[in-house]
Amino acid sequence: MTIRFSVNGEERSVEADESMPLLWALRDLLGLRGAKYGCGIAACGVCTVHLDGSAVRSCVLPLSAVEGKRVTTVEGLGGNHPLQRAWVDEQVPQCGYCQPGQIMQAAALLASNPNPTREQVREAMNSVLCRCGTYLRIESAVRRAAEVMRNKEASHD
Ligand code: FES
Ligand code: FES
Repeated sequence: MTIRFSVNGEERSVEADESMPLLWALRDLLGLRGAKYGCGIAACGVCTVHLDGSAVRSCVLPLSAVEGKRVTTVEGLGGNHPLQRAWVDEQVPQCGYCQPGQIMQAAALLASNPNPTREQVREAMNSVLCRCGTYLRIESAVRRAAEVMRNKEASHD
């Protein structure tokens, strides 16, 4: 069947079974390889994308739940997002595999809480697993990006 949804601001459609997980459609049908496959059971978070602005695990989200909605992948951040710059400045990635999921989880956190405490960052980010143990650098990068975003916001007031 044809399933339509928006991806990174563009209307897209895929021909697929409605039970196909979103991750498969993004990677294999739409060529967006930023979100990664890890566990396939919603346990690791490397496949995290946004659905209508909330972080979701695309490996277990069927296309039927996405019809008519707004999906944002790490490609949709554009490469110059404050989080992506903070990731570079704090030299966060090691092997890099988990990082798209980490960044999308962080983006959802900052959209709902622009000034998270260290504990809130830790709590929000804990569920995205990093085998390389980059957690402390992730924490610093999220807080750095949050500050940049707040300052930018204040300069527009
Ligand atoms: S691949 Fe989706 S949570 Fe692990
Ligand atoms: S950087 Fe290697 S798994 Fe996170």
